[in-house]
Amino acid sequence: MTRPSSPQVAGLPVQQEAAARLIVVDDEKDFALGLARLIRGRYPAMEVATAHSGKEALEILSCRGAQLVITDLRMPEMNGMQLIGEALKRVPDLSIVVLSAYGTIETAVEALHAGAYDFLTKPIEPDQLYRVVDKGLERCRLLEENSRLRQILASQVDGRRDLVGEGPAMQQLRRTIATIAQSDYNVLIRGESGTGKEVVAGLIHRSGARAAKPFISVDCPSIPENLLESELFGYVKGAFTGADRDHRGLFAAAQGGTLQLDEIGDINPVIQTKLLRCLQNGEVRPVGANQSFLVDVRIVASTNQDLEARIRDKTFREDLYYRLNVLSLTLPPLRERQEDIPLLALHFLKRTCRESGLEEKEMTPEVLRWLAARPWPGNVRELENFVRRLTVFCPGSLIDLDLARALLDGGQGSGPIALTSRELPAEAPSTSYKVAKEQVVDSFTRRYIDELLTVTRGNVSEAARVSGLSRVALQKILGRLGGTAASYR
Ligand SMILES: Nc1ncnc2c1ncn2[C@@H]1O[C@H](COP(=O)(O)OP(=O)(O)OP(=O)(O)O)[C@@H](O)[C@H]1O
Ligand SMILES: [Mg+2]
Repeated sequence: MTRPSSPQVAGLPVQQEAAARLIVVDDEKDFALGLARLIRGRYPAMEVATAHSGKEALEILSCRGAQLVITDLRMPEMNGMQLIGEALKRVPDLSIVVLSAYGTIETAVEALHAGAYDFLTKPIEPDQLYRVVDKGLERCRLLEENSRLRQILASQVDGRRDLVGEGPAMQQLRRTIATIAQSDYNVLIRGESGTGKEVVAGLIHRSGARAAKPFISVDCPSIPENLLESELFGYVKGAFTGADRDHRGLFAAAQGGTLQLDEIGDINPVIQTKLLRCLQNGEVRPVGANQSFLVDVRIVASTNQDLEARIRDKTFREDLYYRLNVLSLTLPPLRERQEDIPLLALHFLKRTCRESGLEEKEMTPEVLRWLAARPWPGNVRELENFVRRLTVFCPGSLIDLDLARALLDGGQGSGPIALTSRELPAEAPSTSYKVAKEQVVDSFTRRYIDELLTVTRGNVSEAARVSGLSRVALQKILGRLGGTAASYR
């Protein structure tokens, strides 16, 4: 918020290092001056201007800019409500505090709806004033941070292909990736589930000499054990029942490129041995074949397990471990790099809107701060899924804290789609049959849609296809659920 000082304008003291700018607007001159004096006394670095009409306030705003405005509501010519509208047109991020006399709280609430940030009741208590100004300053800081993040995001996502984050751990990680990409040794990536191991493996591939060749990622545990061997190394016709033609494996498919073996700790001893042989002599023998063929594949293995412990209990081959672990890097869990969370959240927000064909949405700074304070045991993947849900369920264009809190509470523990006792009407119903039934259907719909969106990664077109609903019908349901997200269950 620090910026160089500029020429003096009526009422604005010149300072070496100008901080936030605030305008006090009140047609009662003495009152405005008194308020400005109070504020200057408490915030010596702040540039405080006074204006005695809405028109004058707008002139100062256009000429000098401001982050904060404290304005009276009842003024001749342009009243406070009109000023709010005009001022926000000029500076959309402006934090406006309205002053209201006792007994006119309704007007203050109206002003909040019109875009004011907070209100103060006259007569002004200094402590109350400072609290509101502190809050306003904090909001300015968050908004500035927000726009800074957006700028970084624009450059990172275009230039660095989706590895988002700018904290110290991420910067160190980028340097390590660049170094690793220059060499051609095998790599072992460690990190908890969802920390971005696959993203990093892809980046190592794309940044190195093999970039023009294939990158193939295999999630080892997701392939049945009896099929993994033939998937990796291929098979020949007649190798086993059902092998009615030759099948080239993933090693062959990745020829010249990179093969990521995800959750390497889970592969069984037979495959470990075969993999070791392949790494030792660069040859692969398909299942049922008499001959081997040469492969040139860089292995990037990844794991969430303690491989050293697996070696000690003899479930993982030590010699294979050394072949894989020539170079290694560890991805920190998200809770240890909270500084990256706002940037990641904005990235996922933008991506979900694009993927789902939704208009661009925004998140309030409060939501970003709240997200950053959460532990995210499922790491970036969990954050990504949560932001997808927020985006899709948000009925308007602004995601606020109420929606975020409601979705988090509601999203927790939503198990398989089935009726549970929680949803069944109470034994002695206190509501009519119709209302009780609506509640059950509503609850079912929420969980169904929630899981549907998780499965389809928030893609509305895909969700429509899977659910058999038309896109319009699905959008309607989403709008309805989003609108009452506070009761989300
Ligand atoms: N730094 C990042 N920037 C942007 N997206 C990220 C980042 N890290 C992870 N993601 C996203 O988070 C999700 C999980 O990442 P990824 O699949 O790479 O994790 P993983 O560590 O391989 O997880 P697992 O152990 O479950 O295989 C992906 O959708 C990925 O795009
Ligand atoms: Mg993975």
